Amino acid sequence: MEVFDKIDSIAASIEKYSISSAAELEAFRIQFLGSKNEIKDVFGEIKSVPNEQKKEFGQRVNALKSAAEEKFAKAQEQMQSLLNKASFGDLDLSAPASDLQLGSRHPISIVMNRMIDIFARIGFVVAEEREIEDDWHNFTAMNTPEDHPARDMQDTFYLKDSTINLLRTHTSSVQSRVMTSQQPPIRIIAPGRVYRNETISARSHCQFHQVEGLYIDKKVSFADMKQTLLYFAREMYGEKTEIRLRPSFFPFTEPSAEMDVWLGMETESARRLTKGTGWLEVLGCGMVDPQVLTNCGIDANEYSGYAFGIGIERSAMQMFNINDIRLIFENDVRFLRQFSSLI
Ligand code: PHE
Repeated sequence: MEVFDKIDSIAASIEKYSISSAAELEAFRIQFLGSKNEIKDVFGEIKSVPNEQKKEFGQRVNALKSAAEEKFAKAQEQMQSLLNKASFGDLDLSAPASDLQLGSRHPISIVMNRMIDIFARIGFVVAEEREIEDDWHNFTAMNTPEDHPARDMQDTFYLKDSTINLLRTHTSSVQSRVMTSQQPPIRIIAPGRVYRNETISARSHCQFHQVEGLYIDKKVSFADMKQTLLYFAREMYGEKTEIRLRPSFFPFTEPSAEMDVWLGMETESARRLTKGTGWLEVLGCGMVDPQVLTNCGIDANEYSGYAFGIGIERSAMQMFNINDIRLIFENDVRFLRQFSSLI
């Protein structure tokens, strides 16, 4: 039968058809699957097929159609992946994406942010200043005499070939910066990094962090300071926290004190951090010395104030059970990742 030969020849040409471009793909579609295609044409000849062969004829034409559709789909898929490769090089856009590694906050930042938050709730605003300071703002304005040991090269990092520029030894330098540039009422909190020429060990480092506080207004008293610091200690270390103020000395405050919080002696880390006393030394504080106000251009007869400087490292070490201060500055990701869930 002639029509069966036709079917065979179409089947052969479908099989042999080489499709390697978009144009060839389209030509194939028109020839075998378009609205007027060869398979339809051959099907039209069913009239000439004897009845007993009509069934076989129908099946073979259908098979032809399936073969054409299959070849088309395969070629189209190949073409698509070729296109992808052509525009994206070796990039496999269908590859599963690798997990995004979320960063984590540094334990020092976690603690500093908490402190800032606590003071922000009672109206303190953040003041940030330079780490490279001059001798006047770091020492002179802060009432530190010329022959004070802190000014010594042994204790302070001076910039090369300079006896004036240094790395600030405390955030108290922000006090003089703020007081010389604005008038009271002043209520600031100044977080930041400070530097001292100290031997690096598990307990001390030549760089560390402080959060400075300064409050100046009319009739500010020592009682105001104590209440504010008690509020801070309870927000920071728990509502049952007890504090103690020990008389101390700083050139820029008078009277001066150091504040400890009670950690107890129950845990090994509490004993270690408190050197077996149960009390953790948290901050230095005092009433701003009138001479400092005068140095910075604020009328000491009209205004008074208090200041405090909180050390961050020891609190962070206590909170996160860090047993070596050097870990804080090494930035080893295996260390840093441990704090990702604590933000
Ligand atoms: N600057 C002091 C220090 O670094 C801390 C301090 C700040 C003390 C403010 C009193 C008032 O030790």
